[in-house]
Amino acid sequence: MSDTALREILDSHGSESGSLVPVLQEIQGKYGYLPAEAMIEVAKRLRVDEATVYSVATFYAQFKLVPTGKHQVKVCCGTACHVRGGSKILDAAERELGIGAGATTEDREYSLDRVACFGSCALAPVVVVDKDVYGRMTPSRVKSVLDDSVRGGQQE
Ligand code: FES
Repeated sequence: MSDTALREILDSHGSESGSLVPVLQEIQGKYGYLPAEAMIEVAKRLRVDEATVYSVATFYAQFKLVPTGKHQVKVCCGTACHVRGGSKILDAAERELGIGAGATTEDREYSLDRVACFGSCALAPVVVVDKDVYGRMTPSRVKSVLDDSVRGGQQE
C-alpha cells in the first residue's frame, strides 16, 4: 500500500465525516479492497471512531476487507436469473472454487460474488468473469467457463 496514494485520496476529500463512504469507495478503487491500515487513517482524518469506519465498511456489500482474487467471478442472482436456475449456478461455482459467495480462494486466483442484475436478463442465467459475460449458463458449464478465464489470464 502506497502511503502517498492514500494521502492523496484523503487530501482530496477534506475532513468531513460525510465523506466516509466516498473515501472508502476511492480507497477500494485504488487497492481493490480496504486495507486495515487505510481504515485507521480514514478514522483519524475524518475524526470518527475506527469502529464506525469498520461498521460502514462491513455494512455495504460493495466493500471488501480482504484482497480480491486475480479473477472476479460474479454470479447473477437477480429475478430473471433466479427463475432460470441462478442459485444452481452459484452452487456449482462455490463447489468448483471451494469458497462461498463473498470470499476469495486461498491462492488469490478467484473471488466469488453474487450480484443483483447485470442488465443482461435475456441471457439468464448469467455469470461474469472479469469483463466476460457468459449467458445461458448451466451448472455443468461453470468449470469450463472458469478454465477459460485462467487460459485468458495466461495469455496476458
Ligand atoms: S437478473 Fe440476471 S442479468 Fe438481470
